[in-house]
Amino acid sequence: MQETDIGTIPGWQPLMLSLDLPSATVSGAQIGEQKLAVWRDSKGQVHVSDDRCPHRGMRLSLGFVREDMLACLYHGWRFDEGGHCRVIPAHPDIRPASTICVPVFPAREHAGLIWTRVDGADTGDPPETEWNLPETEHVTPVRTIMINVPLATVMTQLGGASGTCVRISAAARKGPPLSLLIVARPAGHARTQLHLLLEGKAPQTLCKQAAFWAMDFRDATEREYAGDGSDA
Ligand code: FES
Repeated sequence: MQETDIGTIPGWQPLMLSLDLPSATVSGAQIGEQKLAVWRDSKGQVHVSDDRCPHRGMRLSLGFVREDMLACLYHGWRFDEGGHCRVIPAHPDIRPASTICVPVFPAREHAGLIWTRVDGADTGDPPETEWNLPETEHVTPVRTIMINVPLATVMTQLGGASGTCVRISAAARKGPPLSLLIVARPAGHARTQLHLLLEGKAPQTLCKQAAFWAMDFRDATEREYAGDGSDA
């Protein structure tokens, strides 16, 4: 079975559905060992930084967005999109030293998802998917689901795809087959995060069926993996 080194994951990785990060909010994510704070400013731009405040190490993903800066929950230090500290509330008249900063990572929104990469590269291109969706093509985000099974096993269950992006036709509990776009990424040694989208502008009824499919797929895959045990 393919081994996944969760400490060094190269390339663009999908973090969450775009709709799960409203304006002026922050959320947490993790790629391998790298913990991330993912935040959106009031103009809708997404930013990704290290999740550790350089002051006393508080998780920045537990903070908030204030005046288009990421603010730490503990003492309120604020960091701009470049990761530079701009405000220290306890010393409002002091301009923070340029050395006070938090590492940042490139962020992109593409195909209804927020992507980043933590391998130090930033090609400037949108993340590639095997769907080859043009930028203009519409997708409908459905949900993100966690499966307690390694990535390689999940991808085998999804039809043996070698990459992490698949397009499948899945049987719905009710109604016509679903045209699903799925992006997977390792979320630990034996955990996989799946982001589900539907092709085109899908009505709520189809989204509901796709969400049912995701839960059924998760339950069946976890059951089979637990029964097999070959990857444990
Ligand atoms: S720990 Fe973040 S401001 Fe103090």
